[in-house]
Amino acid sequence: MAEPTATASPATSTTVAPTPGGATGLDPDQLALFSFQLFSKLEGAVTSGMIHLGDRLGLYTALRGASEPLSSSALAAETGLHERWVREWAYNQAAARIISVDDAERFSLSPEAAAVLATPDHPAFGMGMFHRLPQTMEALNAMPESFRTGLGHDYDSHGCEGAVGIERSFEPWNNANLLPVVLPALDGVVERLTAGISVADVGCGAGGAVLLMSDAFPASRFTGYDISRYALDRAATKLAASGARNAAFVDPREHPLPDDHSVDLITTFDCIHDMTHPQRIMESLRAAIAPDGTWLLVDIKAHDGFADNARKNPMASLMYGISVLSCMSSAMSDADGAGLGTLGLSETKAREMSASAGFSRFRRLDVDNAVNAFYEIRP
Ligand SMILES: C[S@@+](CC[C@H](N)C(=O)[O-])C[C@H]1O[C@@H](n2cnc3c(N)ncnc32)[C@H](O)[C@@H]1O
Repeated sequence: MAEPTATASPATSTTVAPTPGGATGLDPDQLALFSFQLFSKLEGAVTSGMIHLGDRLGLYTALRGASEPLSSSALAAETGLHERWVREWAYNQAAARIISVDDAERFSLSPEAAAVLATPDHPAFGMGMFHRLPQTMEALNAMPESFRTGLGHDYDSHGCEGAVGIERSFEPWNNANLLPVVLPALDGVVERLTAGISVADVGCGAGGAVLLMSDAFPASRFTGYDISRYALDRAATKLAASGARNAAFVDPREHPLPDDHSVDLITTFDCIHDMTHPQRIMESLRAAIAPDGTWLLVDIKAHDGFADNARKNPMASLMYGISVLSCMSSAMSDADGAGLGTLGLSETKAREMSASAGFSRFRRLDVDNAVNAFYEIRP
């Protein structure tokens, strides 16, 4: 591949020839700057692929476990990999400042890098989205057709590893915060869970939240609902391993939510914006929930409209891109899908939609999370 800097070479020239398209008067500095900005996106994409490999091949785990910085030979020996490939990978990672390198070309992780790259039980662990990068990027092949027809693809289009990536994305923070921080922020819910109530987690994915809660509150009964067979398979495997007797996972197309106001607590974690018919789902939550019940809505911290999202969210371009490849694609996977997408459910929108589904009380919770907003919604 040509070096990106070659495209920026006009910066050193004082005159710029007219382009075939007829554009004249290009500012050479701006041209170089734009080219740099563009190729920095490609650098991020390619380095993200290398991060995927670092996680998948256990390279970060080996670096974290080492008592001193490792040469590429030592890192290769530790992971059972080929030294030449490990060395080139390590050069990418060190050049990108993901891993550290010393003058003797020995590689290591800073404590912060170790937390994010190689500590699955740390709340800041960040490998989930990198885990599913190949599946997310594979979706590019289906995109031209989706752009023409309007029809997207549900979560199962990303296969089993897509579901594992979602699980690894959300569980680290949830494991550290759901029980001690999030549930106590809800009015009276911990007391009711302790006494024994009926709980539905809609869009439950691989079931992490259900299994955490069912273990902590043995007197309550939990049902996770999801339409992804890969996520339900993961949930079933983890349920069997846990031995929990107060939890179940079902596909709502075979076992719909009850519509007799019998569910005391409903949770929806990062999934309403992915659904093809979120308004209809909210109406079904309203029919399921008990008169004194609580709905915990967790969804992406979105603002009202593109301008605010772009100005206030430094990750806006990442989120709009993930939306095309994953969230909005899922939300458009029926012909008449609402297509909310990753940044499509702002607080204003959640208030409006829940009110028109028949909920009358709405409170934003004081829970600190980089990506998500938390709401208590009641009949
Ligand atoms: C981003 S994942 C979140 C999964 C899980 N709540 C978590 O936090 O890990 C969104 C999930 O919503 C599920 N989903 C989408 N539409 C659904 C629907 N109509 N009913 C139930 N689940 C749905 C998807 O299959 C996917 O597992």
